Parts: sequence; structure tokens; C-alpha cells
Amino acid sequence: MLVTIEGIDGSGKSSLVASLCESLADLCPVFTREPGSTWIGDQVRRAIAEEIDPIAEALLFVADHAAHLSEVVRPALARGELVISDRYSDSRFAYQMVTLRGAVPDPLAWLREVHDGWTVAPDLTFLLVLPVHEALSRRSRSGGQEHFEQEEVLGLVQKNYLDLASAEPSRFVVVDALKEEAEIHRFVAGEIRRAAESSRSNRRR
Ligand code: TYD
Repeated sequence: MLVTIEGIDGSGKSSLVASLCESLADLCPVFTREPGSTWIGDQVRRAIAEEIDPIAEALLFVADHAAHLSEVVRPALARGELVISDRYSDSRFAYQMVTLRGAVPDPLAWLREVHDGWTVAPDLTFLLVLPVHEALSRRSRSGGQEHFEQEEVLGLVQKNYLDLASAEPSRFVVVDALKEEAEIHRFVAGEIRRAAESSRSNRRR
């Protein structure tokens, strides 16, 4: 089963994933992330830092995704393991839909087409949602800001995420990221545990 965690910068994804690592250890999940599970991720980070051409940047994220799938995600799923990814394709649909404005005629259609036929869709996606100003103030408290981290950009990214979630309500679970960290963690861990157990019992049938 493939579970993904999504949200704008500063939404608390990283601390959530860190706490899931501990509390779900008995399920032996494979924890992974985009960008950065392969060496291509280093080039993506360089692209982000240097603010390169938006199409080149988008294709680097896609290249990282392809390598992530073949090196980490598909082998783990084939072994019947639970995979939990900190960011995945919805990050592209939410962020690159903004960065590709004006660069390609219909960014979402372009992005969908680039992924079509080879990507692996997540079974369950948690989307952490909070007011953009709160996300930005969390980020400034924790240090540096990257080039996507501007109020206008993050506002559009979050709107894209919410549109994706309403288009696929059976896959997305929208989580109020303003809640206490421990409460969010308990809820998400419980949902993953439940989904993993039902996926295991379905496979046994
Ligand atoms: P990440 O390292 O996950 O940042 P954070 O830990 O702050 O969430 O991702 C780096 C940036 O890359 C982040 O601003 C989101 C962006 N990003 C995209 O624009 N498209 C993508 O496909 C992915 C995976 C990330």
C-alpha cells in the first residue's frame, strides 16, 4: 500500500513523518520522500536553489519521481510492503501548476500527460492544510526560505491541493494542520494502521 503525505511548506509534514517513523515501526514501513530519494534529487535541490527554467525544473522533479518509483516504490510494493512517502506526484500537480503558468498552455494537463501510463497512484493521501501566513511564520522561525515560499505562491499551491482533494475524496484525507501535533499524529497513525490492516486482509482473501 502506498501512502503519501502532502502539504505546503511549513505545514508540519516533516515532524509528522518523523513521529510516524516511531509509532508505526511495528508495521515496518518503507519511509521515503520526493525530492531526494535518489541522486537525481540532489540535482532537483540545486535547481530549486538556482531558480532555473520552470520546464527544466518540472522535468527534474519528474525524473526524480521516475527513479524513485523504479528504485524504491515499485520494489517495496512488489514485496507487499507499506510505503509512506513525504511528498509525491500531488506536489507536482500543486506546485508546478503554479510555476508552469505562462510556460506551457495548460500546466495541469501537461503534468498529467507527463505522468500518464507509468506512475503509481497513491492509495491514501494525507493533506495538511493551514493558513498560509501561519505556514510562512513557522518556516521563518525554523530558518531559511526557498523560492516557492512566498505568500502568493503558497496560497495558489494550497488551493491546487484542495482542488485535487475535492476531485478525489476517496483517496485524500484533509487534515487541519493547526491542531496539536500529537493529535494530528495520533489521527494519521490510526488511519494508516487501519488502512494497512484492511489492505493486508484483502490480499489474504
Ligand atoms: P521538500 O524538501 O519536501 O521541502 P519541505 O521539507 O520544506 O517540504 O521539497 C522542496 C521543495 O520542492 C518544496 O518547496 C516543494 C517543492 N516541490 C515541488 O515544487 N514539486 C515537486 O514535485 C516536489 C516533490 C517538491
